[in-house]
Amino acid sequence: MANIAVLGYGTVGSGVVEVITRNHDSIAKRAGEEINVKYVLDLRDFPGDPVEKILVHDYDVILNDPDVSIVVEVLGGINPAYTFVKSALLAGKSVSTSNKELVAAHGAELIAIAKENNVNFLFEASVGGGIPIIRPINQSLTADEITEITGILNGTTNYILSKMSDEGSDFETVLKRAQEKGYAERNPEADVEGYDACRKIAILTSLAYGKQVDYQDIYTEGISKITDIDIKYSKKMGTPIKLFGTSKMIDGTVYSMVAPFMVDSEHPLVNVNGVFNGIFVNGNMLGDTMFYGKGAGKLPTASAVVSDVVDEVKHNGTNIMMIWEPEKMVLGSMDNFACRFFVRVKDTTSKDTIKELFGEVEFVEVEDVSGEFAFLTASMTQKEFEEKSVKVDMINRIRTTL
Ligand code: HSE
Repeated sequence: MANIAVLGYGTVGSGVVEVITRNHDSIAKRAGEEINVKYVLDLRDFPGDPVEKILVHDYDVILNDPDVSIVVEVLGGINPAYTFVKSALLAGKSVSTSNKELVAAHGAELIAIAKENNVNFLFEASVGGGIPIIRPINQSLTADEITEITGILNGTTNYILSKMSDEGSDFETVLKRAQEKGYAERNPEADVEGYDACRKIAILTSLAYGKQVDYQDIYTEGISKITDIDIKYSKKMGTPIKLFGTSKMIDGTVYSMVAPFMVDSEHPLVNVNGVFNGIFVNGNMLGDTMFYGKGAGKLPTASAVVSDVVDEVKHNGTNIMMIWEPEKMVLGSMDNFACRFFVRVKDTTSKDTIKELFGEVEFVEVEDVSGEFAFLTASMTQKEFEEKSVKVDMINRIRTTL
């Protein structure tokens, strides 16, 4: 029997206990032995809850119990998660976590400590919730050089953008409703400003290329500046707006960013709507592959956490090789990233000025919008675009996959 401890009895922690309880027999069969939750750590008490009997408030009880071979960390945030996880690995216990902040900031170090101690540090649930993506990158796509990873990695923003498009409502109205329904946090900044997606694409990129990608180096733009008028244009063009976390290898350099894109109808991610996540990977031998599913939520996330626990039970005494060296990866400058831009300008700028400045453009017309017009540029680098766009009265601009 493998004894585990769950750190944090919030949404995901209670999900982990539920998954292990409800699927006890099938999980035991797959793991090769029974999995028993010996402790749950939380600062709170849960009177009447079945975990009451195994609840502890002092982490040392878990750390000093040699019967606990696996620690599940679902506290979120860096502290005290980092201290708890590091000490568990040093004490010879494997760790499964859903904590993207922790993995993005300390992944390379914790993987190295796990290796030195012949245990495992696994984090399937840190990206894409229940969608298998970490294990496929680490274990399945090993014959390929990965040329692109692009994901809709945040359910909250995908829900907001989908609703804005379905209902024609503005950002603030939809955000408020998403908060009421529990799809968005009371403080939505990490989601709507793209910080959550940024950590997730940093993790995927670090794993895909085997080096440390610092999330602080990734250009990040959220969705809070997307308006109902942008959505109107996007519908007219048949190019829904999606928040992408994307990394592309171009001529040996990796370019990484988080930003809203207008997505063309042929793109594999165009139909990923609502709270769902989708991750598209291109390998130089495999070609395109897609991963789709629930990127958040109690049971989907817990399912991924428990799948790591099963892997850790199966690999007791063996470190599963994972390449994520501490050496920092230098990302390509965003100045050189090229795409076609969708641009809205005030009609104080003339269309002739736009043609003179940008050359070949396609103008886009929508009804019931006055005082402005919009156009689509040819493909150009970010630097070229910025040099030209400072000369016009720009309202907004959105990158496109066109
Ligand atoms: N806030 C995140 C999302 C939760 O909306 O996708 C999962 O990481």
